[in-house]
Amino acid sequence: MKSVLFVAGEALPFIKTGGLADVIGSAPKVLAAKGVDARVVIPLYKPIAEKYFSEFKEEVFFEMFVGPRQCPCTVYSTVRDGVKYYFIQHAGYFERDVCYGYPDDGERFAFFQICVVEMLVRMNYFPDIIHNNDWQTGMIPYLCKVKYGSDDRYRNMKQIFMIHNIAFQGNYSSDILSLFGVDKTHFYDGSLRMYDGIGYMKAGIVYADKVMTVSNTYAKEILTSEFGENLETVLELRKDDLYGVVNGIDVDLWNPKTDPMLAANYSFRNFKSGKLANKKALQEELGLEVRDDVMVVGMVARLTWQKGVYLISQRLNEILGINLQLVILGTGESDAEYYFREMENNHKGQAVYYRGYNEELAHRIYAGSDLFLMPSLYEPCGISQLISMRYGTLPLVRETGGLKDTVQPYNEYTKEGCGFSFANFNSWDLYNTLCLAAKVFYDRPNDWREMVHSAMSKDVSWEHSAQDYINIYEAL
Ligand code: GLC
Repeated sequence: MKSVLFVAGEALPFIKTGGLADVIGSAPKVLAAKGVDARVVIPLYKPIAEKYFSEFKEEVFFEMFVGPRQCPCTVYSTVRDGVKYYFIQHAGYFERDVCYGYPDDGERFAFFQICVVEMLVRMNYFPDIIHNNDWQTGMIPYLCKVKYGSDDRYRNMKQIFMIHNIAFQGNYSSDILSLFGVDKTHFYDGSLRMYDGIGYMKAGIVYADKVMTVSNTYAKEILTSEFGENLETVLELRKDDLYGVVNGIDVDLWNPKTDPMLAANYSFRNFKSGKLANKKALQEELGLEVRDDVMVVGMVARLTWQKGVYLISQRLNEILGINLQLVILGTGESDAEYYFREMENNHKGQAVYYRGYNEELAHRIYAGSDLFLMPSLYEPCGISQLISMRYGTLPLVRETGGLKDTVQPYNEYTKEGCGFSFANFNSWDLYNTLCLAAKVFYDRPNDWREMVHSAMSKDVSWEHSAQDYINIYEAL
């Protein structure tokens, strides 16, 4: 296996809305270091153009049809850590402030997918594998195998479709097929059909050679009606081709020994003084009472129902009755933002809500907290728990998806574990688990230290998973 093209809606360091960008920004470079010709293609959004355009090189320009309309398309590129990144330009569709959430998303990503497929022949670049990610890319296997399938170069490429979050599916009216230049045959035969229309994510599941997702547990969960979001029966048909491979993180970017955004760098050897220095700096920065003996609990997340934020707001008084300080960073649903603003107003010095996305502050929360909260309803993989373990900040998670696969819970008897977890999506269970964490933090410092050691020595890099990717590619 020699070459892979990752197709996605976002990638770091260029743009990010969620964990997908972390994955696309880090896995390919590890594959490249292992000798794979790994490349990435994403849309050229406005914030990317504003920041990076001067370093881009024009790769190819062509015109193509999106439905009846002839569209110009320019593909730019740049190279990062041995990985070539392509950017697809279209002023009307992509020169906007954020990646998704527009009423014409179906059309925007029809354009994107057609353009990805077309650029291959224009550049005479046909990778061995196309690694498609989430709904924005789901039609690509179908296009390559069916619409362009009479061309061996398209048919011979192997297609992976990777699910990062099955709740976002890209479901549209079947009329959208006309943009792809195909008739409704595969709506009528059911293979593209989702509800009354068609689904991009469903198309990816049906037409890819292999389906992947981002943890073993999530791979099992999405086969059930509780998590499958009505795709469970289709996935059941692909069960033998479905793999869960857990995400890694970029361990160069997330390294407490070298992280330039921290008040003090540290490793396990000087953990105690390093953690205290970062805690103090965080308390000062955010206006919390400066105390080195208090357990600081951090959370960095999109503040949505999925992330379990209402479990926190429901039990806020009880939670803040524990001897702890709480720091929350993120934006999201207005109810959640409202609760956390109120929380800060009513508990000055003990609780802080920073509304916004602030990458540097995120680093300092990972480093300055003792405990990191992720009470998610579902979590395909989760990245934050991996980062927090690397920073010696024990994660407190709900046992779902990748959280279950990566956080071994504290065992009072064997003293093993690298975090805390609870099973039911229930605010009392969250509260009780927080109480247990506080007890261990204050009364069993040796157990805590052992867990910090396990957490910090855990391999959260891409090494292992990148090898799993390669094995799956090779099997194809
Ligand atoms: C999505 C999932 C998250 C996962 C990320 C990257 O954002 O919600 O759990 O870690 O994709 O795969």
